[in-house]
Amino acid sequence: MSDKQNTPSPQAKPPYFERHIFFCLNERKNQEACCAQSGAQAAFDHCKGRVKALGLAGPGQVRVNKAGCLDRCAGGPVAVVYPEGAWYSFVDLSDIDEIVDCHLKEGRVVTRLLLPADVGH
Ligand code: FES
Repeated sequence: MSDKQNTPSPQAKPPYFERHIFFCLNERKNQEACCAQSGAQAAFDHCKGRVKALGLAGPGQVRVNKAGCLDRCAGGPVAVVYPEGAWYSFVDLSDIDEIVDCHLKEGRVVTRLLLPADVGH
């Protein structure tokens, strides 16, 4: 048996993080609509704190990341969870709690908060 046969394929390895959530924190200075005007930073901070408090943060689990404009500004504030590619539009911190508790913790997409497919820039 060669060494190559004993080497696991990259696909066999578990992902470094089980899930990523990216929050658009883009801020525009010219009064154009942007996620930063709609509480995106507070939502990001709240999500990060809740994920940590629930023991979900870290390798093999969940990573909460900042992002620039995700180009779906009309639905802002927005966040996206991978690997599912679930795009969320949220209103308040209770929405963030639901995303954390249902999707990031249990893997269940929160359908009521999903961004309609036709919402873009
Ligand atoms: S400003 Fe948030 S998606 Fe563009």
